[in-house]
Amino acid sequence: MKVLVACEFSGIVRDAFITQGHDALSCDLLSTESPGPHYQGDVFDIIHESWDMMIAHPPCTYLANSGVSWLYKQPDRWRKMVEGARFFKALLEVDIPKICVENPIIHGFALDIIEQKHTQVIQPWMFGHGETKATCLWLKNLKFLKPTNEVTARFQRLHRLPPSKDRSKLRSITYKGIAQAMAEQWS
Ligand SMILES: C[S@@+](CC[C@H](N)C(=O)[O-])C[C@H]1O[C@@H](n2cnc3c(N)ncnc32)[C@H](O)[C@@H]1O
Repeated sequence: MKVLVACEFSGIVRDAFITQGHDALSCDLLSTESPGPHYQGDVFDIIHESWDMMIAHPPCTYLANSGVSWLYKQPDRWRKMVEGARFFKALLEVDIPKICVENPIIHGFALDIIEQKHTQVIQPWMFGHGETKATCLWLKNLKFLKPTNEVTARFQRLHRLPPSKDRSKLRSITYKGIAQAMAEQWS
């Protein structure tokens, strides 16, 4: 299959699909952190190139429920939220046979624009990582992701990451166990 992994700089989902024998490409405004097929630029430059599947990880900074109280505290934030939600909706509506869009739990203002509730909620601890981070999947023509290795340890590692300029980037990297499950179950 031709698989587009949109909004991914880590290469983690891309490489999981390549391991399963697929022709996968990651795309991000940033360069890739792991050598492999990558387009650096706007995903809408390449989104119409006959993909069989797209896995997308759009930015959640202005959509996540955890940040909803900031919407009225910072003047520019509402506009950025609307832009982010429209970008998310455009990804969901693109003409690709199989689509998964991933994000944390989003707030109601973003949901009003996206107009489609998530299909499934997963956690890293269902896929071999002893951590909690509710992750929502919006699925089109894809089966629910089945847990592969449920572990009992459940820490909130990401909340405890010390402040640094890379903190939000580190928090956004896809868990390998989830990427592997996607590639194995959706192949
Ligand atoms: C939440 S991060 C996802 C990171 C991903 N889970 C990974 O493991 O690399 C969102 C990413 O979307 C990228 N992005 C934002 N707008 C984009 C666009 N128009 N086209 C491609 N990538 C975009 C950002 O640069 C950022 O790296």
